[in-house]
Amino acid sequence: MPTREQLIKSLKENKGCWISGESLSARLNVSRAAVWKQVRSLREDGYVIEASPKKGYHFTACSQRVLPDEIRDGLQTRVFGKKDIVHVLETDSTNVLIKEQADRGAPEGLVVLSEGQKKGRGRRGRTWFSPHFENIYLSFLLRPIIPLVESARLTLLTAVVAAETLRASTGLQVTIKWPNDIMYGEKKLGGILAEIRAEMDLVDYVAVGIGINVNTEHFGDKLQKEATSIFLETGEAFSRSDLITEFLNRFETAYSRFLETGFAGVRKKWKALSSMVGRQVQADLPAGICCGEVMDIDDEGALLIRDDKRHIHRITFGDVYLVRGDDFR
Ligand code: BTN
Repeated sequence: MPTREQLIKSLKENKGCWISGESLSARLNVSRAAVWKQVRSLREDGYVIEASPKKGYHFTACSQRVLPDEIRDGLQTRVFGKKDIVHVLETDSTNVLIKEQADRGAPEGLVVLSEGQKKGRGRRGRTWFSPHFENIYLSFLLRPIIPLVESARLTLLTAVVAAETLRASTGLQVTIKWPNDIMYGEKKLGGILAEIRAEMDLVDYVAVGIGINVNTEHFGDKLQKEATSIFLETGEAFSRSDLITEFLNRFETAYSRFLETGFAGVRKKWKALSSMVGRQVQADLPAGICCGEVMDIDDEGALLIRDDKRHIHRITFGDVYLVRGDDFR
């Protein structure tokens, strides 16, 4: 393990206590000057570490920033984030940034992260709440060789991996609401925006953007009824770098499996993680409103709703809401 990571580990183990420079230098097998140099670099990255000539070092908080180096060190991937992680303090939207790179020929696996977004984008022209240093704003590039009609599967695959990551890392019983909402109870914890460029009917690239509300404490009057964060639900601040690392590791495995074996495995997992299967919903479609019970998703990722005349409707677009009186689990 590199010295920097060993130092972070030792400091985290002694969080809230003083630990002497001498003891750190013995543990890390480097000089005291080298310990001091690393502490300075950690402070520059936003870690909160007090230093006293008599007592040594006192670590109180992890960096508020996303740290690409920490992410890279934790990645067990071959492609995702391995070659390039672009990390910026601010951008209009990480999806816009990654599409610019994709248009210039960037390879699959490119990851773009921002600490905040000025024009964070949601589905159907909505905006995405993107305050600085609180949440995850991540986009990554896919270049799968698949027909355009199959591309919706990638949003569902991403939602499955995001829900699994959050369940494993936070213990929260996170669910998925079709097509792209990451939910905790009735409130939205995250969302996915996949933007596709295709030539004829073959996908050229997919820019997948994912936003996860990690440490936000206040959403403001308008959003607080419908949005929540991991912090608000657990009372704990989570490291965004750790969550991103865990997500990318899981995503690469799930994506390779999907390309090799098809959608059946994703569909099964999606159904198990869905907050909608078996519930009465209303779908607002361009052609009107459709009500019924959610049965499943089909092989192309469309939502299947059975109405009271037992007709099955295939929903490929639009918003779907639980009917009043049939609340979220
Ligand atoms: C939605 O639920 O409507 C989708 C929200 C997607 C938000 C993410 S944040 C990172 C990426 N950049 C954007 O502008 N949007 C996505």
